[in-house]
Amino acid sequence: MKHFLNINEMSTEDLTGILKHAQKMKTDRLDLPKGTYDEGQPLSQHIVALVFEKPSTRTRTSFDVGVRQLGGQPMLLSGTEMHLGKGETISDTARVLSRYVDLIMLRTFESQTLYEMAKHSTVPVINGLTNESHPCQIMADIMTFEEKRGSIKGKKVVWFGDSNNVFNSFLQAAEKFNFSLIFSGPKELDPPKNLIKNAKNLKIDFKIDRDPISAIKDADLVATDTWVSMHDNPEEKQNRHNQLKAFQVNEELMSKANHEALFMHCLPAHRNEEATSGVLDGKNSVIFDEAENRLHVQKAIMRWCLSK
Ligand code: CP
Repeated sequence: MKHFLNINEMSTEDLTGILKHAQKMKTDRLDLPKGTYDEGQPLSQHIVALVFEKPSTRTRTSFDVGVRQLGGQPMLLSGTEMHLGKGETISDTARVLSRYVDLIMLRTFESQTLYEMAKHSTVPVINGLTNESHPCQIMADIMTFEEKRGSIKGKKVVWFGDSNNVFNSFLQAAEKFNFSLIFSGPKELDPPKNLIKNAKNLKIDFKIDRDPISAIKDADLVATDTWVSMHDNPEEKQNRHNQLKAFQVNEELMSKANHEALFMHCLPAHRNEEATSGVLDGKNSVIFDEAENRLHVQKAIMRWCLSK
């Protein structure tokens, strides 16, 4: 069974194969209307369940459109309207869904729910975001970097903010794709100690630098994310803003990066909080390319999951 759960569980060969395939599928359908089927309709006669326990714009639409372009049938399901972990175990839901559909994409809270679904499903499961990781986003981000700047190997990626799910997937990707990663944020929102220890054991080129100006020096890629994630306590908002305001990506900070540095944000953005509109809409920003590449890379992930 080929699940796509987390980047650290994948081989570099499979990850680079997915990226190459995504780029080819993107090129092959350049300028075609969005509803045009891809050649051969590789997901013809396949039904894909898209299960959301959290809100989504990009993940929801990109998977839905992706399944349609591949000739398959998307089935959007809201976690709140299902017996998912409430009134029925995740394992029973996994076994039931597997009788109806050929592939499951799940956006959920705890990664335990995702792993429980994968363990008991007899069809592949894709991680569409958990509190701990967002591997589809990072695959789209690496695809975006490489189509603009070539291989990400040996490049310097700087993350501003807290150690959230997107950062965690960046850290896993740093090992698989061999780039260096700097975390620049307040000590209170550091990556958990076990992740730092694991990064050391895996010899990932990872550092913490609390000085945003020294952190961004020579950066090839600058990334940030909303200061309050979907699963964070909204009552903590003011406190988190106070902790993170020194790490805002603004025009002045961005001007200290490598001239060619790309700026990424997985979106949705809170303009003039974690990043200014000047940066989000600036010449280095590739935020909408990232969003578009979610579509292409997830199509390649679905095809990888269903391949022999
Ligand atoms: N980046 C991302 O996952 O966006 P959505 O929450 O809109 O799906």
